Amino acid sequence: MDEREGVARLTRVAPPSADAGLGAGLMPPPRAGQEPATRRRSQGPPAAHRRPQSPPAPPPSAVFGPTGVARLTPRSAAAEARARELRQVMGRFATGVTVVTTTHRDTIHGMTANAFLSVSLRPPLVLVSLGRCRMSELLPRSGRYGVSVLACDQERFAAHFSGQRVSEVPPTFVWQGELPLLEGALAHIGCRVVDVHPAGDHVLWIGEVEHLSHRDGEPLLFYRGRFGTLAEVSDREARRS
Ligand SMILES: Cc1cc2nc3c(=O)[nH]c(=O)nc-3n(C[C@H](O)[C@H](O)[C@H](O)COP(=O)(O)O)c2cc1C
Repeated sequence: MDEREGVARLTRVAPPSADAGLGAGLMPPPRAGQEPATRRRSQGPPAAHRRPQSPPAPPPSAVFGPTGVARLTPRSAAAEARARELRQVMGRFATGVTVVTTTHRDTIHGMTANAFLSVSLRPPLVLVSLGRCRMSELLPRSGRYGVSVLACDQERFAAHFSGQRVSEVPPTFVWQGELPLLEGALAHIGCRVVDVHPAGDHVLWIGEVEHLSHRDGEPLLFYRGRFGTLAEVSDREARRS
């Protein structure tokens, strides 16, 4: 059990398993009358549609040296460079910071996320985009997630729930039905998972909003890879120019 699971029965229950990711664990809970998604995935196509077995080919962008260790070719190095550039460019998109929460058995699991957005007003839909993480394994089981929009004095919880360091002040939660939401946040959104879209190395978890509440206050921001308040971020930028 992780040290963060102490008093508040907090989360980060276990590190992501090696086979986590775009496996059966990412599928949404089955809808009424539908076969469980996990079974549909693991069964694969009927035998007649399967490709003949052949030894697995190395990925096209990898070259294997005499030791069997893959070297990156210029193509995959270029892909890495593009990914770095995308990260840098997207870092100029200032966002708020949220903690996404769900429950698993009697524990609360939370993770920091800024890839959160409003999708539709009627019906009310939001989404959170998750990479390979423990949360992605838990959401198919819980079918619900909460989003807490952090206030400027909650940076420690952003760090805590992204695995950077454990907050000395343990987070506390308020409950909306069976959904935990971080106390002191500027806004709370409670959702039921209604759709799941794999997208590249992430999965978009669409939630239908079931609960909304908010208060006034200053938000925590994330800009160019750093947390800050509105004033701090604009000061930093002014000093750069
Ligand atoms: C500011 C910030 C924003 C983040 N946003 C996301 C995000 O939107 N999606 C995501 O998958 N990970 C995001 N992360 C990384 C996760 O918080 C981190 O991988 C976390 O440890 C995952 O938790 P889990 O595997 O225990 O569920 C973010 C991290 C930080 C610091």
